[in-house]
Amino acid sequence: MNYPYQLTTQAAYEEAYRKSVENPEEFWAGVAENFVWRKKWDKVLEWNFTEPSIKWFIGGKLNITESCLDQWAKKQPDTPALIWEPNNPDDPGRTLTYKELLEKVIEFAVVLKNNGVKKGDRVCIYMPMIPELAIAMLACARIGAIHNIVFGGFSAKSIRDRIEDSKCSVVLTTDGVYRGTKPIDLKSAVDNALIDDTLIRRVIVYKHIDSDITMKEGRDVWWQDEVAKLQGQTLTDPIEEMDAEDMLFILYTSGSTGKPKGVVHTTGGYMVYITYTFVNVFQYKPGDVYFCTADIGWVTGHSYIVYGPLAAGATSLMFEGIPTYPDAGRFWDIVDKYKVNILYTAPTAIRSLMAFGTEPLKGKDLGSLKVIGSVGEPINLEAWQWYYDNVGKKNCPVVDTWWQTENGGILISTLAGVTPSIPTYATKPLPGVQPVLVDGNGKVLEGNNVAGNLCIKFPWPGMLRTTYGDHERCRVNYFATYPGYYFSGDGALRDENGNYRITGRVDDVINVSGHRIGTAEVESAINVQDSVVESAVVGYPHDIKGQALYAYVILDGNISEEDALQKINAAVNKEIGHFARPDKIQFVKGLPKTRSGKIMRRILRKIAEGEMNNLGDTTTLLNPEVVEEIKNHRVN
Ligand code: WT7
Repeated sequence: MNYPYQLTTQAAYEEAYRKSVENPEEFWAGVAENFVWRKKWDKVLEWNFTEPSIKWFIGGKLNITESCLDQWAKKQPDTPALIWEPNNPDDPGRTLTYKELLEKVIEFAVVLKNNGVKKGDRVCIYMPMIPELAIAMLACARIGAIHNIVFGGFSAKSIRDRIEDSKCSVVLTTDGVYRGTKPIDLKSAVDNALIDDTLIRRVIVYKHIDSDITMKEGRDVWWQDEVAKLQGQTLTDPIEEMDAEDMLFILYTSGSTGKPKGVVHTTGGYMVYITYTFVNVFQYKPGDVYFCTADIGWVTGHSYIVYGPLAAGATSLMFEGIPTYPDAGRFWDIVDKYKVNILYTAPTAIRSLMAFGTEPLKGKDLGSLKVIGSVGEPINLEAWQWYYDNVGKKNCPVVDTWWQTENGGILISTLAGVTPSIPTYATKPLPGVQPVLVDGNGKVLEGNNVAGNLCIKFPWPGMLRTTYGDHERCRVNYFATYPGYYFSGDGALRDENGNYRITGRVDDVINVSGHRIGTAEVESAINVQDSVVESAVVGYPHDIKGQALYAYVILDGNISEEDALQKINAAVNKEIGHFARPDKIQFVKGLPKTRSGKIMRRILRKIAEGEMNNLGDTTTLLNPEVVEEIKNHRVN
């Protein structure tokens, strides 16, 4: 088996790119032919970026799991679909072949049905990195239920917000998980999220670590019991035929304002786009073992651990643990153990492993690796070089893949070994992707050697369609800043050869260890404290996390700074999750404001970055005197 749409030469890439721009509909129809459809589409594309309204493969009918599972269960039943490496390296892992995975998915789809889940219902999934997480999402897709996965690091409050916003009726979770040696109690987070909740009828709990948890009578059932009830029965496959534009999933992500928004992805276009990009960016060849270290709770895991690799019939490795347990050589042990060919990880993971030096790499072979990838934030030169030299042993192309939750799949990247890699550059747009750089007034910057705000001017099949329950928010957030374009929120430059280098967010979104955090969200979490009058949160560069958070907080004077610190940290843990805690908190008497009362974040950012002598004009401030005070008490 090979992929008719795999581009294996630079010329083939250029030709595909040209076709994709000249005739996008014909181009994408050609790719879409390679998937399982119950009924082909009547029309490839209808769109406008004003409402916005984006529809791909209109009239097409399918179930994405037939492309991900059934076709391979027939053609290559014994090929491993998922390889699972548990947290504890001494525990046995598990491998599920395509045939086995299909059986498990159908079985759990029946469980969902038996528990009242219907087509169109929203199901919240709060599970660790175990095969059942992939089974859960595919089972939802099989019956047309829309999954809303919440990353296991989020707090009870965040789970609740997401359940309420998307009106989920069922939650899937486990009795916990070990991360390294630390047990994490996922079930009690779910219980706390559901206090007084009337939406959730059922919680299905997979027994994973055998911990002592409480089950609520009438609401909670054990996954294993529900599956056991089916033994001996002949199961009827509850598969639903879906429209290409039916929702596949909702995934919440942070923006510069307000609460996280539920990014909506639909079925047909998403499937075609992520599989096309998976096969081309990583140059996957049948038989390769592919290992993406992301968590399925983020979009990278949705698209490039589960749906993309499976729709390509690939072998995808899932890892439950952390890169530093039992030691900082864990990734390399996994690569050697399973002879991993393609590794896809994040700059923050690379930097944290770099901090251990090359000792943990000693005695590791890594000879199976062919391609190494990066995602989540700009990769700095030092990390790029370390990755290339020590992991790729100078003979694996690095693919630096730029994309976002809203994009569904990779938009700008090298094709491994096919188009040139350039350190710190994502390089060229994939076929179908038409980037433009605009200045602050929305004027398009033509030609090369320019820098500006990164927008996309034409739809691609994997893009978001709306934000759940609030289409206007989608329009305002992504399509209103520069009318006629999708605005990414990132800045980029284009060099003399048309290669793109992403320079980072240009809005109030901070990327901490690859976790996307809106400063507004952290501020509201801090402001929950009665003793807090006002706060402002900004990002600053951090050696390992990429960026970290710096909070400036005004207290009302009725609390000691020590107590306030503790309370603020607890509040962020509770409102969002531990990963959103500011590294630095400075108590201040005032925040620099413009005459109209707006916080001058630019100044706060500069101070946090340590650029104190370069604050620009502060004389127009309402309260220029606070700046000196803030500078003098900066937290180092
Ligand atoms: C933001 C999106 C999509 C996968 C995981 C993150 C930053 C992502 C890169 C890259 C420079 C990158 C951007 C983007 N980002 N990949 N290769 N180079 N920056 O998804 O949570 O939606 O975050 O991550 O700032 O806007 P996300």
